[in-house]
Amino acid sequence: MRKEFAMRSSGLLAQAAVLAACSMAAVALAQPRLELGRRDFESKCAVCHGKDGKGGGPYAEQLKHPPPDLTTLARRNGGIFPVTRTYETIEGAGKGHGTREMPVWGLDYTIQATEVLPELPYNQAMYVRTRIMALLEYLNQLQAK
Ligand code: HEC
Repeated sequence: MRKEFAMRSSGLLAQAAVLAACSMAAVALAQPRLELGRRDFESKCAVCHGKDGKGGGPYAEQLKHPPPDLTTLARRNGGIFPVTRTYETIEGAGKGHGTREMPVWGLDYTIQATEVLPELPYNQAMYVRTRIMALLEYLNQLQAK
């Protein structure tokens, strides 16, 4: 009886350890993506959208249309971050309105991917997707509550 209890509790402990390891791994995986998204945002997007995403970047006044506030994407969509639409806007495959002053980042990343992965053309789409997803994760963090 006692032995069985000991076995059960060590089983529980093992399960808890596995769970802890999994959640630690998830955090460890999410962190670099968020960091990649932040660095990309600051180097590619902040000139127009501002470092805080609110639209006040140094290049903003050169544009015909003011860059939109990216911290209100969720608020303007009934409180839900519009993943697909935002993905398509960044990638450039979505239907643009008007002049589309915003660069087509999907193309930019594809060119970058051919330089980084010239022998692995089938991985280029994944490279582009990973970079855009990292940006989406970062934008999601910027959303005004
Ligand atoms: C040259 C200036 C410029 C740069 C750089 C830029 N954007 Fe934009 N962005 C705009 C403008 C202007 C719009 C409004 C639509 C249009 O005219 O193209 C826009 C629209 C958007 C939208 C749609 C917002 C909405 O309200 O629906 C998203 C999302 C976005 N940009 C994300 C990004 C991200 C992410 C980056 C960096 C990878 C970036 N932008 C870089 C100028 C820029």
